[in-house]
Amino acid sequence: MPTLRLAPASHEDYRRLAEKRLPRALFDYVDGGAYGERTLRSNVADLEALKLRQQVLRDVSSIDTTARLFGRRLDMPLALAPVGLAGMMARRAETQAKRAADSAGLPFCLSTVGICSIEEVAAVSDIPFWFQLYMLRDRGPVRELLARAALAGVRTLVFTVDLSVVGARYRDIRNGLSGSLGPLKRFRAGPVSYLMHPGWLSDVAIGGRPHSFGNLTEYVPKATTPADFKDWIDSQLDPGVTWSDIEWLRDIWDGDLVIKGVLSPRDARMAVDSGADAVIVSNHGGRQLDGVASSIAMLPRVVEAVDGRAGLLMDGGVRSGQDVVKALALGAQAVLMGRPWVYAVAARGTSGVTDLLATMKGELEVTMALTGATTLAEIGPDTLDHGA
Ligand SMILES: Cc1cc2nc3c(=O)[nH]c(=O)nc-3n(C[C@H](O)[C@H](O)[C@H](O)COP(=O)(O)O)c2cc1C
Repeated sequence: MPTLRLAPASHEDYRRLAEKRLPRALFDYVDGGAYGERTLRSNVADLEALKLRQQVLRDVSSIDTTARLFGRRLDMPLALAPVGLAGMMARRAETQAKRAADSAGLPFCLSTVGICSIEEVAAVSDIPFWFQLYMLRDRGPVRELLARAALAGVRTLVFTVDLSVVGARYRDIRNGLSGSLGPLKRFRAGPVSYLMHPGWLSDVAIGGRPHSFGNLTEYVPKATTPADFKDWIDSQLDPGVTWSDIEWLRDIWDGDLVIKGVLSPRDARMAVDSGADAVIVSNHGGRQLDGVASSIAMLPRVVEAVDGRAGLLMDGGVRSGQDVVKALALGAQAVLMGRPWVYAVAARGTSGVTDLLATMKGELEVTMALTGATTLAEIGPDTLDHGA
């Protein structure tokens, strides 16, 4: 195993650095998935199992990785996925990741339950970011969040639909935590594990305050810890949301509406019929319904169902530039990546995310060159070796 003193070369190195840096409960909160973590594992394994087709003696002296998505030019077809509580892993992590995404020419997506607020992230730069919404029982705050997002320059709304109820995560239970959104009751309790991570303690526990859910502070005025916000959001997640709510959202949101958490052809068709501009094939990174198929396994069927009527993205298990090429070969326009950016920001802050994204871009360029593609449009079914 390479020593951690060497420069991190891949997402796995950042994962190991994050594991050292973070209190156990926080690392497990990011690293884990629902129940037996079968879907979490198959997200990664199914991507790994796909074989690329090497194609040689083509002129690959110039490789263009740029993509267009929602009217914006991206340096590569990749976005940073929304991750709740990221700001507990590094000081104001959402702003650090936004800075890295800006310099890499990629979109950052802020979670409803981020530590940093819409306004704090918007203050990083004028470059637009995406906002992810969970539907709340009380639609008043939903309207207000969307108005705040629009005012902050957000044009792309990612509406997550696979968290109507919360899948149990055994690691969180073992660590004395419960639910999906917060390994934070422990934080309130101040266990020894937190004290044993002095880097995190000074950077985040002391230097990274306030530890509130920045977007929601005004709705939970009595909250003093992230655990209080978690209790509120747990009570606010609306299991009664249906396709008619998408139509409601469509009416009140002028920008792009992206439905995240679609995993079947039927749901994809419903999303498009409800007015979605794009769908994200996703199982929430294996954190919700364990035993469901991996995103990459479902991607081709969803592509067929959508049939070009809307944009098509995927996430779950993307760890490298090779994975980006594989997802594009199966019909995705772009991918999102969750855990790796959080490991990188936990380990090395903004520069960690910047380096990780540069690494992935390099991998993407080399993979394109060695599979004989000079533009993203040339990536297709032939890029994969289906017989291998
Ligand atoms: C720690 C953690 C928190 C997450 N929080 C959210 C969230 O608040 N909203 C959301 O839509 N998805 C959330 N997700 C799911 C990610 O947006 C994304 O779908 C998933 O991480 C992709 O899988 P990957 O981690 O294998 O890249 C979360 C994922 C993780 C790992």
